[in-house]
Amino acid sequence: MYASFKSIGSYVPQGTLTNKDLEKMVDTSDEWITKRTGIKERRIARDDEAASDLGVKAAKIAIKRAGITSNQVDMVICATLSPDYLTMPSTAAMISKKLGIKNVMAFDISAACTGFIYLVSIAKVFIESGNFKNILIVGAEKLSSIVDYTDRGTCILFGDGAGAAIISSTDNIDEAIIDVHASADGNFGDLLITPGCGSKNPIREENVKEKLQYMKMAGNEVFKVAVKTLTNDVIDILKKNNISANEVDIFIPHQANYRIIEAVRMKLNFPLEKTAFTIAKYGNTSSASIPMAMNDMYEEGKIKKGDLMLLDAFGGGFTWGSALIKFAGN
Ligand code: ACO
Repeated sequence: MYASFKSIGSYVPQGTLTNKDLEKMVDTSDEWITKRTGIKERRIARDDEAASDLGVKAAKIAIKRAGITSNQVDMVICATLSPDYLTMPSTAAMISKKLGIKNVMAFDISAACTGFIYLVSIAKVFIESGNFKNILIVGAEKLSSIVDYTDRGTCILFGDGAGAAIISSTDNIDEAIIDVHASADGNFGDLLITPGCGSKNPIREENVKEKLQYMKMAGNEVFKVAVKTLTNDVIDILKKNNISANEVDIFIPHQANYRIIEAVRMKLNFPLEKTAFTIAKYGNTSSASIPMAMNDMYEEGKIKKGDLMLLDAFGGGFTWGSALIKFAGN
């Protein structure tokens, strides 16, 4: 039994936050943000929308495109660093409830921006066990709920959104997900961290006053490790599978910074037109960024059945990973 990547869907909230808007909030400029990150605007969810609401909308599209119904989904996994609730219930359980999915395993994973690649890796193994047929994976983020809009080092980067996919069983090896590599190194944990509201620094007045509930990032240090790690990781997965960069049809990197994507793309000599770039319109949506970018390319007709996709991500933890996937949808 093999695991195949059957479908993709995404949801983008209506609200926008432009660089011009941010100029009025912190000491920054459209020119600085554009030049250093490539971001022009990000989407922001409504106050009454939680991560699961965004995830459900993406999931409905992925389920429909896979040609199945919700009651054929036999597992739901969500990657998020902005869950509906800090401890429980899980965002995956909320997504299941809203989709009417009952009596199947539903759980969240925490791998920051590498979340979607971790999801593919986990779903692949469960499908290959032979016990599951259709696994719904969702990357859903309401990052605006954990961003400090007085910190210019982070608030210019992040946006909200969700992406989802169905990983299904197949006996056709030509449709199989080829390989997934995912890793972590907690020694870098402090460089990209939400210090508060967990068991280390619980929700207490003094911690909230110090804004520990918001993301903090040593941007420049993260940048350097990200470029090096992502480049090496992509080279490794291609080499391990005896695939050359020019055999890849679509390169879908995590959308963190235009300059990071360009550094990896140029090192591998990927053509610009084969590379996903959604950073300008969505910013960094963490675990949702890869499926959102994939969905846009799919809807533009740039991803077709049988295409070889290379995914690549890096995020808090640090975590990183890459995947070589044949698109098995229609
Ligand atoms: N507007 C204007 N100036 C700014 C801003 C801003 N928004 N932010 C920082 N600056 C200033 C700094 O204060 C500094 O000023 P100084 O030279 O007077 O000290 C100067 O600009 C340069 O700052 P750097 O931090 O060195 O800028 P850099 O070019 O590294 O860009 C950025 C910052 C965009 C954050 C970049 O480092 C980056 O993209 N880092 C990686 C992010 C990433 O990949 N994260 C991982 C995934 S996210 C996740 O897992 C949740």
